[in-house]
Amino acid sequence: MRKGILSIGAAAAALSLGLTACGGNSGDTTAQGSSAPSSAAATKPGKIGVILPDSKSSARWETADRKYLKEAFDAAGIANDIQNAQGDKNAFQTIADQMITNGATVLVIVNLDSGTGKAVLDKAQSQGVATIDYDRLTLGGSASYYVSFDNTKVGQLQGEGLVKCLTDKKADKPIIAELNGSPTDNNATLFKNGYDSVLKPKYDSGDYVKGPDQSVPDWDNTQAGTIFEQMLTQQPKIAGVLAANDGLGNAAISVLKKQKLNGKVPVTGQDATVQGLQNILAGDQCMTVYKAIKKEADATAQLAIALAKGEKPSASATVKDPESGRDVPSVLLEPQAIYFDNVKDVVADGFVSKDELCTGDFADLCTKAGVS
Ligand code: BGC
Repeated sequence: MRKGILSIGAAAAALSLGLTACGGNSGDTTAQGSSAPSSAAATKPGKIGVILPDSKSSARWETADRKYLKEAFDAAGIANDIQNAQGDKNAFQTIADQMITNGATVLVIVNLDSGTGKAVLDKAQSQGVATIDYDRLTLGGSASYYVSFDNTKVGQLQGEGLVKCLTDKKADKPIIAELNGSPTDNNATLFKNGYDSVLKPKYDSGDYVKGPDQSVPDWDNTQAGTIFEQMLTQQPKIAGVLAANDGLGNAAISVLKKQKLNGKVPVTGQDATVQGLQNILAGDQCMTVYKAIKKEADATAQLAIALAKGEKPSASATVKDPESGRDVPSVLLEPQAIYFDNVKDVVADGFVSKDELCTGDFADLCTKAGVS
């Protein structure tokens, strides 16, 4: 269970990103993009390629990550190419190859699993292309940097959120179902470590009863519905659902609706998607975790742009790759728990607009929740 947990470097608390050019003996093992003289690199920065994983496991990749990364690159006047592998591992590799052929000197990837991610990273490195693991760490990989959130903390917020909602409902010895993310996503391992650190003591003390606990391959929302339907058939008294993101949460809510159990059984989520926030406003979802993706994209763009200019940026934190033991220079950001009362924070932060959130029946609920 503990396998795969990341130990975060002592400096992680600072979370700041230093972009000073490092001296030659700084100990930084950054793979450098090209051997071109720095003056040439300075006048003509390289091109940045980004590969997103899919558009179905979460709305975030197309609605947030793509937008914020593109804005950051364009604002800096850096040539960029952002593509989506649509869950296809072969396409992922092909896109990477094409990007490098077309002159990318920096590759930013969200891996579909560590194996194929590693193949892409290693090949890029062998061709002098600098690499960044975006959001998901590639275990055993060779990325020069890793930018993400404190993902164990994300899980902890989910666990605490479920406890809060069950306490509000005065639930007595609730049976908990866990709907975990993809078994091939290191983040899913970290989320689970986080929420199990909150739930396990409750199981052990007998306050809560451990129910079905299953991973959803590739975070597939449709499969999540099938899995949860089976869980509820086998254990009709499920009283709380720890769903690892909003998509999985919505799949569980759809099943609960058929049994008129929505709103009675608290469900968690992650990503502060419009759908997740609407489910919270409707009372069907207990909470979500907001990750300010603009900050994640901006930190990544800052690193990628520096690399494209031939610089050696330094990151203030490191994360230990549990497979290789390598300390990967990292930026880890803080997640935030969102309940009915602070849905408005996500709108105020500009992550979702009032117009897209407060449609139809949600208009009144938005007013109640103080969304302006
Ligand atoms: C991300 C989540 C996302 C999930 C499914 C994870 O690696 O951190 O934000 O919901 O993948 O795409």
